[in-house]
Amino acid sequence: MYSEQVMDHFMNPRNMGEIPDANGVGEVGNPTCGDIMRITLRIEDDRIVDAKFKTFGCAAAIASSSMATELIRGKTLDEALAVTNRAVAEALEGLPPQKLHCSVLAEEGIHKAIDDYRARQGAPEASGG
Ligand code: FES
Repeated sequence: MYSEQVMDHFMNPRNMGEIPDANGVGEVGNPTCGDIMRITLRIEDDRIVDAKFKTFGCAAAIASSSMATELIRGKTLDEALAVTNRAVAEALEGLPPQKLHCSVLAEEGIHKAIDDYRARQGAPEASGG
C-alpha cells in the first residue's frame, strides 16, 4: 500500500523532535482521524534554518511530516509556503488516495508555523484582526 519512500520516512523519520528556541510553532489536527502534528521552526533572515516535527498519527502523517520538514529546510518563507501537500505526496512517491489528507496536515502545519512566526514579528498578514 505504501511506497518505499513512505516506508523509509516512517521507519527513519528525519527531523523528529522539537526545536527548543523555535520562533515559529504550528500545531494542527485532523478532527476526523484525531491525528495531531506539531511543527517547530527556527527562522533567520526570512529563511528556515531548522525544522522539526512531532506527530501523533498514522504512518502517512509521520512520513509526510518527515518529508515536509526536509523540503522546507533552507527555504525562504515564501518558498516554504509554496510547498503544497501534493508536493509532499509526490516527494514520497505518492500516497494512497485515502491517505492524501495526511499530507494536508503537513502543509497546514507549515503554514501555521510561519503564520505564528509572522505574528511574533508583528507582520500585518498574520495580525488576524
Ligand atoms: Fe489522519 Fe493519517 S489518518 S493523518
